[in-house]
Amino acid sequence: MRATAPGRVNLIGDHTDYTGGLVLPMAIDLRTTVEGDPGGDDVRLVSEDLEEPAIVPLDVGDPRKCVPPWARYVAGVVAVTAPVTGFTGRVSSTVPVGAGLSSSAALEVAVALALGFQGSPLELALACQRAEQLASGVPCGVMDQLASAAGVAGHALLIDCTTLRVTPVPLPEGMEVVVVPSGEVRRLSESAYAERRAQCEAAIALIGPLPEATLDDVATVADPIVRARARHVVTENARVRDMAAALRAGELPTCGALMAASHESLRVDFEVSTPRLDTLVSELLATPGVHGARLTGAGFGGCVVALTDPGALRTGWHVSAENGAEVRAGRA
Ligand code: GLA
Repeated sequence: MRATAPGRVNLIGDHTDYTGGLVLPMAIDLRTTVEGDPGGDDVRLVSEDLEEPAIVPLDVGDPRKCVPPWARYVAGVVAVTAPVTGFTGRVSSTVPVGAGLSSSAALEVAVALALGFQGSPLELALACQRAEQLASGVPCGVMDQLASAAGVAGHALLIDCTTLRVTPVPLPEGMEVVVVPSGEVRRLSESAYAERRAQCEAAIALIGPLPEATLDDVATVADPIVRARARHVVTENARVRDMAAALRAGELPTCGALMAASHESLRVDFEVSTPRLDTLVSELLATPGVHGARLTGAGFGGCVVALTDPGALRTGWHVSAENGAEVRAGRA
């Protein structure tokens, strides 16, 4: 059997998912594939790109204790989905690791399907979100796993992270999505991510759910850092809504302006950018044919996503919106 799951890029809406906000990612044409056969009482996977195999017993304890490090994600899936039988197979992937394209979500979703997970794309995503949290220790939201599980070719996905409703938004003809890596290795992202999430929760304790909060509510928050974090989330939710409308209308300059504003908000109010990411965004925004650019994903390094006219950029990964995860019986 063969299970495959895509990476994702987020067009707009970062650090909004874990407060029930709006996000607009798309599943991309870079995928992770797990191929093999069920059986035995452990999960044994070799990787085409990594030397050491992942060998995970079905009764795995703490996934974070597993080695090599990539086996933690496999272990997270085993711990959460509790498959009745093991699996032996191989993993291959075109999703670059550490670039901000959710290679870990693609691995989790593909492994869960290979191990026989039965359920809706939403149930699959929620199980894999939990697996990611167990494996990495990062209190992540559901965006990455849901984009990978529920992708629709030619569409971005407007996800309301309170209702978990997914609305496919058609992408206009004549535009390109380009992902440009910063080359920066992420540092301290785990503790900084958890800290940002805690600051958002402090804001919620004061003014209630952020998807319903106004900027007047935000202005009542006394702590300047908590206030800035909440301001990012409230304005970002509005930008996601506006971006979905602008994409439907094919208004690329409006999309571009919203992306640039999102980057500013992530830089100034949420403080998850880096000088390297800022320079990259400025350079891209000054390039003819580029409508907008912003850091994408958690930040602290990783990559920038740009919306461009076809052929405007030669660098980076030129990605298209693809279908989400799927299973095929038999070998390739
Ligand atoms: C990471 C997390 C997501 C989301 C983004 C920021 O990718 O896994 O849940 O919070 O960061 O938008």
